[in-house]
Amino acid sequence: MRVLGIETSCDETGLAIVDSEVGLLAHRLHSQVDVHAVYGGVVPELASRDHIQRILPLLREVLDEAEMRGPELSAVAYTAGPGLLGALLTGASVARSLAYGWGIPALPVHHLEGHLLAPLLDDASLAFPFLVLLVSGGHTQLIHARGLGAYELLGESIDDAAGEAFDKTAKLLGLGYPGGPALAQLAATADAESVTKSGASFGGLRLPRPMLDRPGLDMSFSGLKTAVRTAVHKGQYAPAAIARAFEEAVTETLVEKTRRALEHSAAPTLVVAGGVAANVRLRAGLEAMGQARGVPVFFPRPAFCTDNGAMIALAGLRRLQAGATESDLAIRARARWPLTELVAEASV
Ligand code: KG4
Ligand code: ZN
Repeated sequence: MRVLGIETSCDETGLAIVDSEVGLLAHRLHSQVDVHAVYGGVVPELASRDHIQRILPLLREVLDEAEMRGPELSAVAYTAGPGLLGALLTGASVARSLAYGWGIPALPVHHLEGHLLAPLLDDASLAFPFLVLLVSGGHTQLIHARGLGAYELLGESIDDAAGEAFDKTAKLLGLGYPGGPALAQLAATADAESVTKSGASFGGLRLPRPMLDRPGLDMSFSGLKTAVRTAVHKGQYAPAAIARAFEEAVTETLVEKTRRALEHSAAPTLVVAGGVAANVRLRAGLEAMGQARGVPVFFPRPAFCTDNGAMIALAGLRRLQAGATESDLAIRARARWPLTELVAEASV
């Protein structure tokens, strides 16, 4: 089986072809960072227009690389939500039309299911059940994944998502958009600047670990942003020290909440996915915690942590293998779509 995946939920156009035997055959990604950077964030209408221009040229490239023609595919999978409605509609319409023309099914995929299955692109040994720490620009959730489509939400951020906190903090520090990678880069220079380091405090700065003192698996990151603003206004800390203190606070909070979720769920495996899973410090912290508990930790390769077409193709392939079919010719797009509303595939 071979599935084409199309991702257009936000500011990246991603296309890929995954084969059930060989794995990933081809993938292409176009990032719209340049389009939105001047505005300091994603402009939905510009995102939709850019997706429209990019999808077909990228499609030609992945088909060429995989050395196949459209009708040889088994299905076209597309991100049906959650995300920006206009952006979703571009990918969904193209996917639905291609599938109709090629006489194959079009499978709507949940963007977050794509994220949490992404480690399978590199390591087929990952098997249900597992705990997922999903950390993206829009979501921060701890999920008990019992099977394909069987997802129980154990805890989540009650305000900003982790990625959003990275982006907002980066903005406060005068870094560009998107802020996460830029902030991580700045944080990495904190030691080189010989900032005094005592425990997890940089230049004497220690930011709060929100909600760690409370039981439960929910998280909160908006207070951290306020603490960063106060630190910036004080003017006594090097930007690198603030970036590092912020990264430490987020990492420690996520690691501890994840540890508690592993204890609570007794899940044998941990999956970390979503854009923030590309963060080196967070990866190291979670890896160490998993090792201490004897729990294997799966991460997608950094390029597949952030949005991409390969994870959508893979999720579509898994659904197809589990017997998913299409019921009609509808073009599906949902801006809001809780992961827990997905229906479990019985045969997986
Ligand atoms: O999963 P993703 O590509 O898009 C959503 O579905 O939201 O995640 C994007 C988020 C952004 O907030 C970005 O700043 C963050 O992931 N991010 C990072 C890093 N790379 C991307 N945050 C921290 N460190 C990174 N290295
Ligand atoms: Zn995403």
